[in-house]
Amino acid sequence: MHNFSAGPAILPAEVIQTTSEAIANYNGKGLSLMEMSHRGPDIVGIMEKAVSLVKELLNLPAGYEVLFLTGGASTQFFMTAMNLLDANKKFALLDTGAWSAKAYKEICKFGPCDMVASSKDKNYSYIPKGYDIPSDATHLHITNNNTIYGTQIHSYPDTNIPFIGDMSSEIFSRPVDATKYDLIYAGAQKNMGPAGTTLVIVKEEILGKIERDIPTMLDYRTHIKKDSSFNTPPVLPIYVSMLTLDWVKKMGGVAAMQKRNKEKADLLYGEIDRNSLFKGTTAVEDRSHMNVTFVPQDDAHTAAFLELTKSKGCSGLKGHRSVGGFRASIYNAMDISSVQVLVDCMKEFENQNA
Ligand SMILES: Cc1ncc(COP(=O)(O)O)c(C=O)c1O
Repeated sequence: MHNFSAGPAILPAEVIQTTSEAIANYNGKGLSLMEMSHRGPDIVGIMEKAVSLVKELLNLPAGYEVLFLTGGASTQFFMTAMNLLDANKKFALLDTGAWSAKAYKEICKFGPCDMVASSKDKNYSYIPKGYDIPSDATHLHITNNNTIYGTQIHSYPDTNIPFIGDMSSEIFSRPVDATKYDLIYAGAQKNMGPAGTTLVIVKEEILGKIERDIPTMLDYRTHIKKDSSFNTPPVLPIYVSMLTLDWVKKMGGVAAMQKRNKEKADLLYGEIDRNSLFKGTTAVEDRSHMNVTFVPQDDAHTAAFLELTKSKGCSGLKGHRSVGGFRASIYNAMDISSVQVLVDCMKEFENQNA
């Protein structure tokens, strides 16, 4: 199948093959990876390799810690604020979609947060620009890629305030200037692995600067001290993430991913713009290279087009209910040949219906 699902999402075929072997019998040891102690050398080695691949692929400077936590990106909405924000500080937040709005709601429970701009007025179809950020804000929370609406931040707001970035649906899809961020988080289940672990990259020196008594499990310092193994870590999702990161490295790293993703995005947006039966839903300059959203010119065509794509082996193309139409998620692991299958479907549909 050509898996266009927004998440849980496509993983490289070789990663799935190696994982299935490790589940049956890890490295010929007669044990499943899922049965092995997280304190033993095999699993410790996997965790260390995953951390070092993140540092290498994202070119992280010294001082940034890499954690594999649980609770999904949704836990980071509040964990960031719980660790960094109190009544004497302030976050700013850019509202670019449902996930930003959810983060805003959670952040506000821990301290002041100014929503500096929002694109809700046009159903989040663009990235706001030219807004002011309060000078007393310590951090700006951004959602780098908006999975539901198909927009992506392509140029950073002009500010010296460090970012907290939700990179759930774009992590490792392009190079990152980590020095602009104090904290990056991403649920694994789009570009990295299966659901069950969340990558957190945090600049250690920003921690411990607030009054709050943070519950042990929700304090980043706990997990830094214990190399993400304070409690039993989700070994299988971390193992799969490690394999995927190794695959990214073999493919040429995040710069090569960026090129590969742009080629796929250009192919698909090119057809959306050319084809008389479809139209894109977002501002052209803010189009996502990960989640491509488009709708039929005629609503009555939705079901028939999905049926055609299904018959050609495509899955996961139905748009999110808040946008409608179609959403093609073209994450790192997707080959351009799968995007070509979708483009061919669009051409065939036009030939049949225009
Ligand atoms: C951008 C973004 N942030 C946060 C989330 C929530 O992630 P999780 O389900 O891991 O809590 C998602 C899920 O799709 C997402 O796309």
